[in-house]
Amino acid sequence: MSPFERREDDQYPRNQVSQLTKMIETNLSRRKFLGAASVMSAGAFMAGMPVTALANTSSSNSKLMGFKTVLASTEDAVIVPEGYNAQVLIRWGDGLFPDSPKFDPSGNAPSAHQALQFGDNNDGMTFFPLSENRGVLAVNNEYCNNEYLFAHQGKKMTADDVKKSQAAHGISIFEVKRTSNNNWDVVIDSKYNRRITANTPMAITGPLAGHPEMKTAADKNGKLALGTFGNCANGFTPWGTYLTCEENFNGYFGSKQDVTVNKEQKRYGLGKDDAGYGWSLHDERFDIAKNPNEANRHGWIVEIDPMDPSSTPMKRTAMGRFKHENVAVVINKDGHIVAYMGDDERGEHLYRFVSKNKYVEGNDAANRKLLEEGTVYVAKFSTDDDKIGGVGQWIELTHGKNGLTKENGFPNQEYINLYTRLAATQVGATTMDRPEWIAVHPNQDYVYCTLTNNKNRGVKEGQPVGGPNPREANNYGQILRWRQINDDHAHTNFAWDLYLMAGNPSVHKGTLYAGSDNINNDNMFNSPDGLGFDADGRLWIQTDGKYSNKGDYAGMGNNSMLCGDPKTGEVRRFLTGPIACEITGLTFSPDYKTMFIGIQHPGEELEPSHWPDGGNSTPRSSIVMITKQDGGVIGS
Ligand code: FEO
Ligand code: CA
Ligand code: CA
Ligand code: CA
Repeated sequence: MSPFERREDDQYPRNQVSQLTKMIETNLSRRKFLGAASVMSAGAFMAGMPVTALANTSSSNSKLMGFKTVLASTEDAVIVPEGYNAQVLIRWGDGLFPDSPKFDPSGNAPSAHQALQFGDNNDGMTFFPLSENRGVLAVNNEYCNNEYLFAHQGKKMTADDVKKSQAAHGISIFEVKRTSNNNWDVVIDSKYNRRITANTPMAITGPLAGHPEMKTAADKNGKLALGTFGNCANGFTPWGTYLTCEENFNGYFGSKQDVTVNKEQKRYGLGKDDAGYGWSLHDERFDIAKNPNEANRHGWIVEIDPMDPSSTPMKRTAMGRFKHENVAVVINKDGHIVAYMGDDERGEHLYRFVSKNKYVEGNDAANRKLLEEGTVYVAKFSTDDDKIGGVGQWIELTHGKNGLTKENGFPNQEYINLYTRLAATQVGATTMDRPEWIAVHPNQDYVYCTLTNNKNRGVKEGQPVGGPNPREANNYGQILRWRQINDDHAHTNFAWDLYLMAGNPSVHKGTLYAGSDNINNDNMFNSPDGLGFDADGRLWIQTDGKYSNKGDYAGMGNNSMLCGDPKTGEVRRFLTGPIACEITGLTFSPDYKTMFIGIQHPGEELEPSHWPDGGNSTPRSSIVMITKQDGGVIGS
């Protein structure tokens, strides 16, 4: 079933969102209150804080989940439930073309090799079917691990090292074909195979195309940017394109010179020091003192046609500029395209884009322009500090409205699209605990969003405790969900609650930090990040958390993937990853019999992982295929 078809077998009451509000009220009436001791330790402001979620059970009653729980693990392995297999599809450095050189683990290979190989740190990805047994995978390569990419671990960057690092970033697109037992192989000589890197030409579309602040020495028209990097998670459209999201783009800019940082650059984290990639040392484009406008050309959502390797990727400036995590696209019942988007930084915001024009089935030439024009909104939540659950509204970020005026420092719409974060602050948007992935239930009713963690909550000014961000110094994270009035994704108002609050019930008994009722010793985790639904409505939750297995994180083991039942609230661990990895990225074959997930940066910072090849080998980010031995649907 296409993810854009609405399911008829409802899991939720269908009508008004007021029913969600009623459900929240019901749950609040049987909410669990904190003990006095924990209130003292958590701070007096939390007195009476309920730990609740609609989910109120940890018993094994889910009809959706047919697998046995996988316990937390610190092993250097991918562990899946009994009756399942996990197999590597492709690893960082594997060839994508007939002339790709073999992976050289020494860290001395030149940039030309990496340009023909699968990039590093695979993250979000989408499977685009060609036929029953063939498909194209588009995969983000978010960043690189200098400690493995270079023999010198990034400490003596040459000009070719910078090129190699840039070639390890971006997107990998390649054909796969089904082999046996629902496993797949990469088709090395396919016409679809393509590497997109930090140097691939991309069109700047929408309101910022040709804008003075988009012009650089190399691009006097301000319409053709080079490359994409920091490609975190992703999305896809009903017209068959891939969406890649530019997240920590600021970390690639720096300068040897002193830099005077203006308020806009400051808000986006730009300055003299990069995040350790060293690109500005040998590529002037990334010298923020010499080419300040170059950074304006990054921080966008990019639309790519995975079926045409000669196509030019399109930067979609109509959707706003921030540290984009992922994008969840729905065709609203009125025909407009609605895209939900998170900005992953402590105290940043949750956004929505609504297209100006409507989707027309079968007219993909027109549909491909839908993300070029539209309106961006930012979320404001009710924040009564004794309630987890309430209402919220989307505030329009349109020039001349909601105080976005010249007098307040917003000269025009282009400025708002380029510096979207500043506009969000101006209109009083809620500061969030780092919005990561957003996923819409196949019924198109509830929308879920991981709020991964936020050590600054209640600690730094402007990030008060309350609403969907209920915990001070939040080191565990939570999953927010909301439902639009009348299930209308273009509506101004919604109701919200939390699906879960992660926590550690073995360390923090009886406190807010033990987590919601659906968290127990067998499924506890921290820092939910990757998120997605399958067609049956199983909620897949991937973690990017602390893997020390000590202190606040004792008993949680390595990062893992869990499965949630949206209706009963039950959460069950499905998979554990190798040492020092993050689990991120998920997509399925159209029959849902193969699940593709990403293992990112096993052994980062020289932690002792040799996954996936074992022995003394270099650890490598990889895509893993999960299959069921009886050939069934994953999770069933
Ligand atoms: Fe690239 Fe917010 O994770
Ligand atoms: Ca992430
Ligand atoms: Ca994360
Ligand atoms: Ca990571």
